[in-house]
Amino acid sequence: MLDLQKGQILSDRYTLVDLISPTEDWNGSLGGGATSIIWKARDDHCSIADLETYVAIKFHPHRPTEQIEILFRREAIVLMQLRGHPNIVSVLDLGEWTNATTGDVYAFIVTEYCDTDLATLAERGVGAHLDTFYKSAIDTCRGLAYAHGKNLVHRDIKPANLFLALDRMTVKIGDFGLAKDKSYPPDPRATVVFGGTRGYKSPEKARGSMSARAAQSEIRSDIYSLGVTFYQLLTGQHPFPEGHERELGPPRPAALLNKNVPDELSELVQSMLCYQPTKRPSSIREIRDRLERQHKAL
Ligand SMILES: Nc1ncnc2c1ncn2[C@@H]1O[C@H](COP(=O)(O)OP(=O)(O)O)[C@@H](O)[C@H]1O
Ligand SMILES: [Mg+2]
Repeated sequence: MLDLQKGQILSDRYTLVDLISPTEDWNGSLGGGATSIIWKARDDHCSIADLETYVAIKFHPHRPTEQIEILFRREAIVLMQLRGHPNIVSVLDLGEWTNATTGDVYAFIVTEYCDTDLATLAERGVGAHLDTFYKSAIDTCRGLAYAHGKNLVHRDIKPANLFLALDRMTVKIGDFGLAKDKSYPPDPRATVVFGGTRGYKSPEKARGSMSARAAQSEIRSDIYSLGVTFYQLLTGQHPFPEGHERELGPPRPAALLNKNVPDELSELVQSMLCYQPTKRPSSIREIRDRLERQHKAL
């Protein structure tokens, strides 16, 4: 059991300060294993003149099995490959904690500590001011284009996985727990049993029927999930509350729900949400370029 308390010190270095996730209103179910345990911790090796440095520490909640270990360490390796990009959460360390009673060893990933995530901001009713939306959306596209350029697809893009850095301006993509390196054949020992989040997963993924060719273009599935995310940030609503496993036609344009949304932005988001992957924009770079042009013209 992952039995951690405030004040506990891991690796002789990280003092646990607060449990960040799951939050108190969490319903207690760890269904599908998708919910990790995230602690805010103080890095005792990195305090300068009484100024403290905080980090985030991520554990997989379940008893470690070989498959969990492989998947978990893979997240750290993916983050290492993306290190240095300002719009991707920085990985700092990989450690282990042993439960002294059971002898179970739990790996943990240490990353830079961020202020919050975009889902929490939206829940608090922090409305998407158009300028803030463009800034966040462009940051996200920069990070995601960088990952795609390294052959990595995220596979779980949603507001809760887009973190707001301590400057409260920069968006950093986090939670690469489901990311896939397209350069390598899948590791059969590390089959991902929970592929993405319902409501954000592209229709082809939700149906579980991606053809070999479609599987090659998982980039367009990330683009769909990003479309859902943009739509929610702009309107406060989900584009397909009933699900999108079958073709339903386009959602109500974002510009109809929020009169501040310019038509060209609304059209871009609609195109990202197309049921047919081939009708969506083909790259994140293209989306970023269009957002940058629109932002400049504001
Ligand atoms: N580095 C971090 N800084 C601040 N908050 C974080 C950090 N990492 C995760 N969180 C918070 O914890 C939540 C869960 O973390 P995440 O990595 O998405 O794991 P999972 O979705 O598997 O539970 C995030 O949605 C975010 O609110
Ligand atoms: Mg997450």
